Amino acid sequence: MAQTTLFSKADIDKRVAEMGAEITRDLAGNDLIALCVLKGAMFFCSDLMRNIGFDVALDFIQVSSYGNQKTSSGVVTILKEPQLDMRDRSVLIVEDIIDSGLSMNEVFRYIKLDKGAREVRTATFLDKPTARRVPFKADYVGFSIDPKFVIGYGLDYAEKYRNIPEIQVLSGE
Ligand code: IMP
Ligand code: MG
Repeated sequence: MAQTTLFSKADIDKRVAEMGAEITRDLAGNDLIALCVLKGAMFFCSDLMRNIGFDVALDFIQVSSYGNQKTSSGVVTILKEPQLDMRDRSVLIVEDIIDSGLSMNEVFRYIKLDKGAREVRTATFLDKPTARRVPFKADYVGFSIDPKFVIGYGLDYAEKYRNIPEIQVLSGE
């Protein structure tokens, strides 16, 4: 399979620093929890948090993934629940990429309604806005991209390629 660079490590570092600065300006003074959506957002969340200029708590959630497929089954289930009490807290959901919108819709609903968060914001490193099956607009978006399958910087294909330090397009399948 061919792999071509879409965003270099330098592109990523620059954009994540900008996002961190924006979040610092917008959300300073909030008792914020960054909620990392496993596994893909681990790298982005780690970098983003270190670019936020105030104290941020950290928790994790995992939802059902594509398995080894490149398209969503359409059913989203919570595989790992967060540990922190989110009631009346401010939560920033941190995702690697939004595609159909199904995962973020479910995580947002779960944190807001089931966990009772006061305020829920969303940050995604990548967005494929034309691929939505349900509407979803993130508050902070690193890059909007065409609906191609991408890997690296936490993003996998069948659990491979997560540790590539840049974003590449996977093609020739
Ligand atoms: P959604 O529920 O369709 O929005 O899918 C979101 C999830 O699917 C992301 O959190 C990723 O784990 C995965 N995903 C979507 N597009 C890609 C891609 O291009 N590469 C790798 N994973 C992807
Ligand atoms: Mg994901």
